[in-house]
Amino acid sequence: MNKKWWKESVVYQIYPISFLDTNGDGIGDLRGIEAKLDYLKDLGVDVIWICPIYQSPNHDNGYDISDYQAIMKEFGTMEDFDRLLEQAHARGLKIMMDLVLNHTSDEHPWFIESRASKDNPKRDFYVWRKGKNGAPPNNWESYFSGSVWEYDDATDEYYLHLYSKHQPDLNWENPKVVECMHQMVEWWLKKGVDGFRLDAIAHIAKTVGLPDGPNPEHLPTVRAYELFSNLENVHTLLRNLHEQVLFHYDIMTVGETSGIGPEEALCYVGEDRGELNMVFQFEHMQIDALSGGSGKWDVRPWNLLELKKVIGHWQAVLHERGWNANYWCNHDQPRSVSRFGDDRNYRVESAKMLATFMHTLEGTPYIYQGEEIGMTNIAFKSIDDYRDVETVNFYQEQIRKGVPEGRIMEAIWKKSRDNARTPMQWNSSEEAGFTSGTPWIKVNPNYPMINVEKALRDPDSIWHYYKKLIALRKKHEVIVYGKYKLLLAEHPEIYAYTRTLGDVCLLVILNFLGGEPEFKLPTEIHQERGELLICNYPVKDEEELSRTFRLRPYEARVYLLSH
Ligand code: GLC
Ligand code: CA
Repeated sequence: MNKKWWKESVVYQIYPISFLDTNGDGIGDLRGIEAKLDYLKDLGVDVIWICPIYQSPNHDNGYDISDYQAIMKEFGTMEDFDRLLEQAHARGLKIMMDLVLNHTSDEHPWFIESRASKDNPKRDFYVWRKGKNGAPPNNWESYFSGSVWEYDDATDEYYLHLYSKHQPDLNWENPKVVECMHQMVEWWLKKGVDGFRLDAIAHIAKTVGLPDGPNPEHLPTVRAYELFSNLENVHTLLRNLHEQVLFHYDIMTVGETSGIGPEEALCYVGEDRGELNMVFQFEHMQIDALSGGSGKWDVRPWNLLELKKVIGHWQAVLHERGWNANYWCNHDQPRSVSRFGDDRNYRVESAKMLATFMHTLEGTPYIYQGEEIGMTNIAFKSIDDYRDVETVNFYQEQIRKGVPEGRIMEAIWKKSRDNARTPMQWNSSEEAGFTSGTPWIKVNPNYPMINVEKALRDPDSIWHYYKKLIALRKKHEVIVYGKYKLLLAEHPEIYAYTRTLGDVCLLVILNFLGGEPEFKLPTEIHQERGELLICNYPVKDEEELSRTFRLRPYEARVYLLSH
């Protein structure tokens, strides 16, 4: 067993624009984060992952960077950042930066030069191609709808963008790009940052020749993700980055890699590979999406057996060979309690149950801001209230295709990234205490009921439950390193498993739905006694593990077993 601090840590993700605004411009800022360091310390987290804070024209909320070594003016200054880092370190908190290596902003000086002329020295920093008979160079579809190609008048060529047209892809085949990126990463490491989340890292290499994706239906664009995801060259580039830069620092790294199962993930996180510490996988994020439909937007009911299959597979394959990053939610996903719990009838119970799951699996747990108080999805009536470029592009494309607006909005209410991007709900004062001005995106109207101040006052709140879960991780090594084993594999409502480390055994029992199924302890569990470590319902202190009992809706129990 290879012990590491980042395996024992809990990560808290901050989406800075929506965290806390300290100067009344309606936009969260670095001083806002600094003001809440004690709050995070009190919760017990170890690492703060901050979504991009670099200079950016904000077409994709900072994921379009125009200067990697400057702070977005709306968020503050480099002095603010240095102080934030120092203040975090003074409290024993680490800071993980979001590293966007796949693309820049179209306002980055490199791109401005690149598009100026074909013989500009920066031309090859990006991917330029001639059109094919007036059409784009190939049929790849962008993650944000439409073609990945944007025509540029100045030189009569197209540039490639896997995301929005304001996010041109860098050309990693150019050694000068690699060199600039390595230098930039090193610069942040010298500042003392403690890790990186590598955005869209699976896509930095594209299939040579940029061939068309298979398209029997002759559509204008097709999802050809496999032609630009997780290719062998991504691993070569990552190994170089690791060997030449990252390796020299005691940091943590997590890559964003859609489209892979655990076997492929081992190529990124295998302990013998020298690439990354862990990756965000997407298989469990797809259990409610209809494959073959409009990707994530076509929603289907999810079922527990599929979740067990996906998670169990990751737990098994990565055990002692790699490491998992466990999450329900982030700035790209709907709110977990609305998606996988019941935010109407059992919001508190189901949020606690979902948290119990993430914190008792093998892997590093990630908490997304607001998850610790059970924040929920938003359903704005009008598309005008949405800010997310992916959502707005999707809406416009569907309208063009003639899809009825009501149906589009239904999909957006379920899946829009803005579900997770409404301002953090700090208290019940106006705008949830997020800003004294007008927030950049509307606050969820449920803030008088769901907010931090209220949660801190209530000892039975979701917040206090999270705090307890995090504390348990620090106390019981089995929670970090124990081997996962599924129980009651076929049970459609109960997700139960053990985690075993030496002769210590943790038993996790989760009722994933709103019914009251009976739990029968499988005969393979021989231990006679169980100490109840945590439960999301009131229990009598002396309550012992009995061999059969009925679970309450969304009930979660974690026992430490002994003979
Ligand atoms: C990642 C980010 C997402 C962003 C995209 C493009 O998926 O998480 O927010 O839009 O990359 O940078
Ligand atoms: Ca501000």
